[in-house]
Amino acid sequence: MCSPAHFAVEYAINPWMDPATPVDPELAVKQWDGLRETLIGLGHEVHLLDPEPGLPDMVFAANGAVTVDGTAYGARFRHEQRSAEAAAHRSWYEARGWRFVAPVRTNEGEGDFAYLPEAHGGLLLAGYGFRTELPAHAEAQEALGRPVVSLHLVDPRFYHLDVALAALDDANVVYFPGAFSVASQRVLAQLFPDAVLAADEDALAFGLNLVSDGRHVVLASEATRLAGTLRAAGYQPVPVELAELRKGGGSVKCCVAELRP
Ligand code: ARG
Repeated sequence: MCSPAHFAVEYAINPWMDPATPVDPELAVKQWDGLRETLIGLGHEVHLLDPEPGLPDMVFAANGAVTVDGTAYGARFRHEQRSAEAAAHRSWYEARGWRFVAPVRTNEGEGDFAYLPEAHGGLLLAGYGFRTELPAHAEAQEALGRPVVSLHLVDPRFYHLDVALAALDDANVVYFPGAFSVASQRVLAQLFPDAVLAADEDALAFGLNLVSDGRHVVLASEATRLAGTLRAAGYQPVPVELAELRKGGGSVKCCVAELRP
């Protein structure tokens, strides 16, 4: 995770961002601290990346890489406003002994990649259409040695895979079908016949931008309907308040890069 010490909405690179809407920087830090404490309270270890002035979106740490079995496949951001974040993530991994694969292709890390270690022997789901470019999916497959399934995102409000789909445990997902092309919806239905399906209301509340440890599902407090659906499916929803960061177009998952050593 990376503190929102320098968080701001100074430019608009997704439909949620409006530089005219004021952001309360202290509240952003307080809410982010609440998320960090929630994860620690659930028994998770949280490592920090130092925030840098002039990189207001750095709090969205999930975009810096995707990791599998000690290898980090780095990011290459679509927008130049964020491009300098990639080097900070790279240094973090390299300083800690990870094998780091630098990308040639544009991709935004876990924003567009989800890893399911027990689904079909272990596979990566990968989004394209807005940020990550399709050839990055093949690059990730070579870097990480797992099959990558490409999914076409078609609604600009759901510009990253992680605002439309999330891993609930090692083998199952929750997603909003309407964010995907009809063909990609069919692919998801074939791969995950037991998936939990979310409604547009859940996705618009950023509910799918969640982090799950297989039991506890940490998600935006506004996503009350999805919390009920997940409870009925046997998971334990853990709501957190992240309204300030939502002004940047992100929620829980965007703030958390999961480490798979
Ligand atoms: N403002 C950021 C952007 O548009 C938000 C990133 C959200 N991160 C995510 N993993 N979906 O790039």
